Amino acid sequence: MSQKKWKVALVGCGSIAGEIYLPQLATFSDVEVVAVCDILPERAQAYAEKFGIPAWYPNIDELLEKCDFEIMMDTASIPAHHELNMKALAAGKHLYTQKPMAMTVENVTAQIELAEKMHVKIASAAIHPLRPDIIEIRKMIEKGTIGHVNLIRARAAHGGPNYFQYREADCSWFFQPGAGALYDMGVHGITEAVSVLGPAKEVTCVACISEPERTIRSGAFDGKKIKTDYLPDNYIITLDWGNGTLAVIDAGFCEKAATLNQMEIYGSKGTITVKGHLKIGAGDGLMAYIDDEDLKIRGWIEPQPQELPYPGEWKQAEAIHDLIHAIETDTTPVLDPKIARHVVDIMCTISDCIREKRTMPLHTTF
Ligand SMILES: NC(=O)c1ccc[n+]([C@@H]2O[C@H](COP(=O)([O-])OP(=O)(O)OC[C@H]3O[C@@H](n4cnc5c(N)ncnc54)[C@H](O)[C@@H]3O)[C@@H](O)[C@H]2O)c1
Repeated sequence: MSQKKWKVALVGCGSIAGEIYLPQLATFSDVEVVAVCDILPERAQAYAEKFGIPAWYPNIDELLEKCDFEIMMDTASIPAHHELNMKALAAGKHLYTQKPMAMTVENVTAQIELAEKMHVKIASAAIHPLRPDIIEIRKMIEKGTIGHVNLIRARAAHGGPNYFQYREADCSWFFQPGAGALYDMGVHGITEAVSVLGPAKEVTCVACISEPERTIRSGAFDGKKIKTDYLPDNYIITLDWGNGTLAVIDAGFCEKAATLNQMEIYGSKGTITVKGHLKIGAGDGLMAYIDDEDLKIRGWIEPQPQELPYPGEWKQAEAIHDLIHAIETDTTPVLDPKIARHVVDIMCTISDCIREKRTMPLHTTF
């Protein structure tokens, strides 16, 4: 942990802020949440009171004008990210942003360039590159533990924000242009795959709308019927690394329950499995089947994930320590925004693949 206490302002007082980030940040001795902000002021006020935060603001402009802080955490709705992030960076704030950073490669590039100009750092969700089990998997692949990687199969799906979890906010926005299942869920499977294997070369995808109308099943809007026929909610994505390695990722809002593992990686000498579903954990679900004559092992083992790149116990809000570590050492965060940009590139290209019904090349790297 840092010796200094970093002043953090959180923007977007919704489900993830209340369930995950604010409770976890409260346990960090090197972080002080000095303000929260939401365009629904009653929500910002309620979170300030609930989490003992000294100030709240009804919009980012007032936050930037009146509050002294160093890091902005963007947990607002997806369509708001780019504008909020650009304002924070222009004001010289370091940034941890929820995914996706923006909806176009050009906008992500604009954020990266502005951060460079302002000498501030960005760390971006999705947090998979920082997961100790993913770091361990990458090392195993680099060492050749499972030989040549032939295929990654990943799933990033649940029953939809209308079904999946309790929320006070109306979740309709998740289904509308500017958000959608690809950007909310596909982003996870794609980030996992590229975190393990690096930038992909080509993508293709089929997608459809499976549930054009939905009913909210919990929270403040329980029972409300919503129109969900604006965007696909069901995606099968394939990635190609151009060297005999493919990934297939099913993503969407169409799987109310599942027993399949989150990710499996099939190599010429073995298999790596991440057990569980939508797991963002320390790695206790990691298993590997190895076939190694020298080690005389032909069977399943349970690899122990490595420690984090800095002292600390794994939590989602550890992303803030990745950012602080990068600021203090003037290095690139593990949650490098260029990884996030490659993922946005894939997601934007997927729209072209669906429209043109063909495989398309990717143009970004990291
Ligand atoms: N809920 C989860 O489990 C989860 C998990 C991982 C990532 N995420 C990501 O976190 C982000 C937020 O998701 P959520 O589920 O918390 O959504 P949510 O709808 O519960 O909350 C979003 C909040 O952002 C506020 N907001 C919107 N525009 C704003 C603006 N311009 N300025 C300030 N506040 C603004 C809304 O009023 C709302 O309170 C999304 O990017 C989502 O993909 C959510």
